Amino acid sequence: MLGVVYTSFIEMVEQQFSPDTADDLLDNPALKYDGVYTAVGSYDHNDMIRMVVHLSELTGIPVDDLVQAFGEYLFHQLAERYPAVLEARTGFLDFLEVIETSVHTQVRKLYPNAELPQFDTVRHDPNSLTMHYASRRPFVNLALGLIQGCSAYYKQPYEIDVERSTEGELNKASFHIRTTS
Ligand code: HEM
Repeated sequence: MLGVVYTSFIEMVEQQFSPDTADDLLDNPALKYDGVYTAVGSYDHNDMIRMVVHLSELTGIPVDDLVQAFGEYLFHQLAERYPAVLEARTGFLDFLEVIETSVHTQVRKLYPNAELPQFDTVRHDPNSLTMHYASRRPFVNLALGLIQGCSAYYKQPYEIDVERSTEGELNKASFHIRTTS
């Protein structure tokens, strides 16, 4: 997992909880990298999971909710960091439709060691699409939060149905998304 994801997570914890809470998470002796992450580094995603589980214990907020909230925050961070990627698209579903073929493809070129999920996307009509997510990492809720952040960015309300499954080591989900205005 890229360092930018780690630094964004710590920043969210500092802002939405407190700097002391962020320090508590980084002081956890179970962390593989001793709580030191830089934006340009690359780290095993398990430290992220350890920190989210720890944050859930400290706050009483379920892990899934924390991961989703982080996804929403991360979308805005990524949008700020890579504005050209978003400017090329005009709307919410048009943007979601090209996550695999354009957005993450550009990320892969910039960071060959990025660990990205696979999306197969089917556009049904102007107002609906289905994204099939598959990843070795358990980040379905991160995707849900990123989709939420994307909808806020484009000011486009939507409804979503989620079907989750696993297949061997793969975490899978189908997101059925319809715009509502
Ligand atoms: C709604 C839009 C998006 C969705 C649903 C999405 C989905 C995801 C998910 C679920 C992950 C976690 C990795 C995994 O599950 O295996 C991820 C990682 C990532 N995505 Fe996206 N993404 C979106 C938009 C973007 C945008 C706009 C950018 C940047 C321009 C971006 C760049 C990245 C990066 C840098 C990572 C981390 C890779 C790593 O840790 O190695 N994504 N994305």
